[in-house]
Amino acid sequence: MSADPSPQPVSRRLVNALLGLGALGALGGMAGAVLAYLWPQPGQAAGSDLLTGTAGPLNPQAVGEGQGVVGRSKVGKVLVVRQGGEWIGLSATCSHLGCTVSWNPASKQVECPCHGARYGLRGEVLRGPARQALGRVELKVDAQGIHVAAAGG
Ligand code: FES
Repeated sequence: MSADPSPQPVSRRLVNALLGLGALGALGGMAGAVLAYLWPQPGQAAGSDLLTGTAGPLNPQAVGEGQGVVGRSKVGKVLVVRQGGEWIGLSATCSHLGCTVSWNPASKQVECPCHGARYGLRGEVLRGPARQALGRVELKVDAQGIHVAAAGG
């Protein structure tokens, strides 16, 4: 006598239970992702004036003389440049179409990668197509990091 080679029928109840578990797992994963997105990161609480990067609060010691870095804050993206012992803050949002600008230490200019606008260290337009200056952001630097003290125009 040989064993029956035909597979055992799977009950509808078992299939429904497995589908239900799968759906619950997917919903749980989505809920976790939404909570992780909404949950504030350390130093990034809603309304925080502390500038943060991808690895947490921006460390002033990590920004060398003549260097620049973009951080996020309650006022949006801010370009921080350390120049001549001074901390200079500018809106990092290009006034042309909103791309994120960066500091070029070689040219000592703020540059937009999208359409080539250039700005000076005070936010003034040096080359179009941008027409409006970048907004100034007053910074405060302490042991905790780099803070936005005030944002102006
Ligand atoms: S978005 Fe910056 S130059 Fe166009």
